[in-house]
Amino acid sequence: MARVFARADAVLTLAGPDGPRAGAAMSELGIVEGGSVAVDDGGAIAWVGAHAALPSAFAEAEVVDCRGRALMPGLVDSHTHLVWAGDRKDELELRLGGADYEAIFARGGGILSSVRKTRAIDEDELFEQSHVRIRRMRRCGTTTFEIKSGYGLELEAERKQLRVARRLARQAGYRVRTTCLAAHAVPAEARGSAADRAAFIDRICEQILPALVREQLADFADVFCDRGAFDVEESRRVLQAARALGLGLRVHANELGPTGGAALAAELGASSADHLLYLDDDDRRRLREAGVVATLLPGTSAVLGKPYADGRALIEAGVPVAVATDCNPGSCAFENLAMVLALACYGNRLLPAQAVCAATHNAAASLGLADQVGSLQPGRRADLLVLATADVRDLVYHAGSPLVEQVWQDGVRVA
Ligand code: NIG
Ligand code: FE
Repeated sequence: MARVFARADAVLTLAGPDGPRAGAAMSELGIVEGGSVAVDDGGAIAWVGAHAALPSAFAEAEVVDCRGRALMPGLVDSHTHLVWAGDRKDELELRLGGADYEAIFARGGGILSSVRKTRAIDEDELFEQSHVRIRRMRRCGTTTFEIKSGYGLELEAERKQLRVARRLARQAGYRVRTTCLAAHAVPAEARGSAADRAAFIDRICEQILPALVREQLADFADVFCDRGAFDVEESRRVLQAARALGLGLRVHANELGPTGGAALAAELGASSADHLLYLDDDDRRRLREAGVVATLLPGTSAVLGKPYADGRALIEAGVPVAVATDCNPGSCAFENLAMVLALACYGNRLLPAQAVCAATHNAAASLGLADQVGSLQPGRRADLLVLATADVRDLVYHAGSPLVEQVWQDGVRVA
């Protein structure tokens, strides 16, 4: 049955080109006042405009009264690690007591502790634990998810994580893109010698990535290119192997220091470079010239007590910016992207309109999905949020309040 979301005080269409948006374009939300959105029975947007101009073809459609409300695209979380086993609340307390994230990691805790739990768990149980989280995330307004592996660090367990990510899409109906992050950390069994470490990189390039691509489990590959993880040479090898297999590229870059990951992302024309706490003008210029989306993860800065990436400088430099949760068991288990959007304003110095573009269209563009989601335009999927306010700035002003009233995916109410 066709449906009309009718008479919203503001429809944030984010109408515009499919590519990532930069500079002034990030503030242009394409707002239609007194607007309506018509959705066909296939779950696609059929028409958007001022309600007075609604085509008569939709006269009989079911109406969702949006008076006093704003309508916006469903949020797109373009960086999550949401498939993991167990939790690391013990580290939360250690860190709040003064322990350092990198020190915990170097001692074999951190990522490696989630690796032990994720290797040990059975696939159905991993699915159940992950399903609980993704359901909450969608209830907060996220309708598209990028999900990384990276708590397996061996073929079997990486495959198990990505199979769960695919099942969340096929079996549970979530909109998901997957990323193989086998280069997340050097696993315990490869920490003995430089040769073991090199052999692990070989395994990623020659065994893990090819198998996962063959099984169509990965859309992208990612590397944690940073202090204590992988250096630029190692990261380049993995990313080049991934590219040769047809995968898109994403990079965890410059989170812990000015470690060269952002320049590498630019050199390889990655879809996204993420974190970016330590950048200089030259890095920003390279990202802009290569068209890399800079993905900010302010929740992680908040949890780890780190500086915030300078989002305003990135926007002023003409780099397209996205915002995501980084939802993971250690450095930030935040699930609420609307809340993180607010943090991008207070921490990364984005304006509310820029943060909305960052968490919708630009995030979708970094995933190659902007022709489907991230804006409200005819032909796009009807993934949309009805807000309990007419002013989207309330997501920032009243950060954390329950302002996402209705969540719709493919024209079906999901929360
Ligand atoms: O993006 N930086 C590396 N990976 C994650 C942290 C993962 C973890 O601590 O389990 C991140 O912050
Ligand atoms: Fe991450």
